[in-house]
Amino acid sequence: MNLKKMITISVCVLSALALSVSAQARTTITIAHTHVETHPEHKAFLAFKNHIENNIDDKYEIQIYPNGLSGSNERVFELVKINSIQFMAISSSNIENLAKSYAIFSIPYLFNSEDVYEKFISDPEVLKELGKNSDKEGFVPLAAFTAGTRNFYAKFPIYSVDDLKDKVIRVQTGRTNSLMMEAFGANDYIMKFSDVYQALKHDVIDGAENNELVLVDQKHGELCKYYSYDGHQMIPDLLIGSRDFLKSLSDEEYAVFKEAAMEAQRVEFREWKYRINAAKEQAKTMGVNFINVDVNAFREKVLPLHDELLEKNPKIRELYEIAKKYY
Ligand code: GCU
Repeated sequence: MNLKKMITISVCVLSALALSVSAQARTTITIAHTHVETHPEHKAFLAFKNHIENNIDDKYEIQIYPNGLSGSNERVFELVKINSIQFMAISSSNIENLAKSYAIFSIPYLFNSEDVYEKFISDPEVLKELGKNSDKEGFVPLAAFTAGTRNFYAKFPIYSVDDLKDKVIRVQTGRTNSLMMEAFGANDYIMKFSDVYQALKHDVIDGAENNELVLVDQKHGELCKYYSYDGHQMIPDLLIGSRDFLKSLSDEEYAVFKEAAMEAQRVEFREWKYRINAAKEQAKTMGVNFINVDVNAFREKVLPLHDELLEKNPKIRELYEIAKKYY
């Protein structure tokens, strides 16, 4: 082998080594969520990633997996707790069976406007209170995304609360949702988010309840042509991080991650307003009818639940008192 060839080979080997060292030196952070890439939460996670990459030099390789690619919320939650996935967005309702204070948001008609609700979920005291019981479970709530207002939508029109009688309605995981459906007179069907489309298609369920984005993002509007504004719940998706991962950070790095979460929340709130209006217009072109109902008739059915839930679950009392301050 001549000298020139040897030098070329050595340079190649050295640069390959340098690359792999720098690649190895970066820690991979995995973020998972169940929404499409136009969803406000995806935009929020992009802002989260940018903030970290702009403020911590070349240490982390941040990968975002949207569309439930890493599994259902319930499954990913288990992975966050053991630090196999570092961050996710999860409905507060999906956490309440494990950590009872998270049930606060499942209380129907807790807030009387989205403005009040957004102020509440932006209050640092609220996150602190929720966080109290999370650390021992292996996760930390860092910010709250809005997720709008949950309303009923179905293959049949819901004009009054009596139209729900004996209908099978999908709800997300969380004990309070079942109690609420019972009080409304419907039958609850607990099901993963990603299974709802097929369940509607094959008549396993008659309807579901969620914000308007699912009509277009999850294509539920192809199957459900009626969306009724009863406004029964406002449940945030929480940006949670793995406790063990967050514990591995220096104080300075931890501060950057916290700022990144706050930035993500700001982006999510802003994007939400824009996306929700666009989704309504798009749903109309799919043939979805939006129905205004007598909200009081719905509210009356479930209001007795407030006392019952507070009695059964003292962990939500503190947060309930904070929520009341916002009225
Ligand atoms: C909302 C929320 C999701 C949740 C879903 C559901 O869309 O953003 O986090 O999984 O409701 O009803 O399952």
